[in-house]
Amino acid sequence: MPCCQGQDFDRMFDARRARKDLRAYSRRGARGATRRLLDAVRASLREQQAAGFTHLDIGGGVGVLQHELVRDGAVHTTAVDASHAYLELLRLAAAERGYEARQTRIEGDFTQVADRVETATVVTLDKVICCYPDIAALVRASARKATAIYGIVVPCDRAWVRALVGLANWLLRRVLRWQFRVFAHSHRTIDRLCTEEGLILDRQDPGLWWCVRLYRRAAG
Ligand SMILES: C[S@@+](CC[C@H](N)C(=O)[O-])C[C@H]1O[C@@H](n2cnc3c(N)ncnc32)[C@H](O)[C@@H]1O
Repeated sequence: MPCCQGQDFDRMFDARRARKDLRAYSRRGARGATRRLLDAVRASLREQQAAGFTHLDIGGGVGVLQHELVRDGAVHTTAVDASHAYLELLRLAAAERGYEARQTRIEGDFTQVADRVETATVVTLDKVICCYPDIAALVRASARKATAIYGIVVPCDRAWVRALVGLANWLLRRVLRWQFRVFAHSHRTIDRLCTEEGLILDRQDPGLWWCVRLYRRAAG
């Protein structure tokens, strides 16, 4: 059943894909843009000397960032995901790693459940904003939850990236007949929304396709 602004997350992010993601992480650890986001978060945590920190991972899939940050000393993690399959596998993965009791899992569209979610030192959205049409609602609601660090991975703001996203959407809708679209939202808009929520851009690491952007809460 399609949910979340017409995006059918349960079909796109199903149990098969979740198992494949977890297998890849178990074999090779955090990779690609996720690794770059993790490195940026770690550097920022070191700079801010944030001991006993908490983590809110929105659309975190099988929980790569959570598993890594718990190893670094996160005292609690919260996972909010619209995909039932991902959350279920995440529960098992957290149990295997011995921190299930320090993890809260909430299923649903973050913009709809945000009222039930606590603030956290670190908030991450790794390849999530590109799955959601209402950028203002998602960025505002999630940025508000970050007390120190807000880290995201989004498609690079380049013409050829937007062209390929357009092509992917055409294939998804017309050929596969899936109710799912990808969005290459403007970075300028994301920056503006973050600024309005009291965050400033601290680091950016533009890759070829995925761009890592890290914001920190402005002092005062
Ligand atoms: C492309 S996957 C990324 C998974 C993981 N972060 C990774 O990089 O492998 C996007 C994830 O975001 C979730 N998602 C997208 N929009 C969401 C929203 N508004 N609220 C909660 N989860 C969302 C999807 O269910 C999916 O698990």
